Amino acid sequence: MGQPEKLNATLPRLGILISGRGSNMQAIYQATESGRLNACIAVVIASNSHAAGLVFAKEKNLNSTVVKHTRQIGKACIDKAVVSALQGADVDIVILAGYNHIIGSAVLSAFPNRILNIHPSLLPAYGGKGMYGTAVHEAVIQNKETQSGCTVHLVNDVIDGGAILGQSAVDVLPEDTPESLSQRILKEEHQLYPKVIQTFCASLLKSQNSERTQPKC
Ligand code: GRF
Repeated sequence: MGQPEKLNATLPRLGILISGRGSNMQAIYQATESGRLNACIAVVIASNSHAAGLVFAKEKNLNSTVVKHTRQIGKACIDKAVVSALQGADVDIVILAGYNHIIGSAVLSAFPNRILNIHPSLLPAYGGKGMYGTAVHEAVIQNKETQSGCTVHLVNDVIDGGAILGQSAVDVLPEDTPESLSQRILKEEHQLYPKVIQTFCASLLKSQNSERTQPKC
């Protein structure tokens, strides 16, 4: 993996990857607008042109593009196009927000330790291959867990296996269905993700600034 680029000094630039609804992207956008998150959305990249989140991105005049995932276009080619769209928008930090694809090595190497994801469980529980969408909540309910929640983590080459940056727990109620549980967790996601991104941006900027003020030997 290469060295990450220096952050844009004033306002870190986020590249948000979506595949569907994009409610986390909306929460992040609202946090940037209200001043709770000192960052800006440099680009929204959707993996298909029907992603509902694109409508919001367009309404808000966010720079958005589609990098289609199809079997015909190889994974390596798609990864290259994603990197090029992110770099073309001068992105500092990549935010996965309901992006239904595995991040390939080209993207990981272009943004080392700079890719965040949100997962709807308390990782490491209910993460990994096949654990996405309703399957997560079904498994939680089936196992009679009393708590679940969401996790923001760094993305590496292990699915849902990167360092945990923040978590928020919710109670699992006896009457919960996968849908009701997922709704309750989603509300927490909308609070947690912008907060963790803000802390992440602030700590990156801080370490960068302290590097700058180190006397040269
Ligand atoms: C969320 O539940 C998130 O945890 C998972 O995908 C879902 C995305 O929802 N990674 P949205 O597209 O942000 O509404």
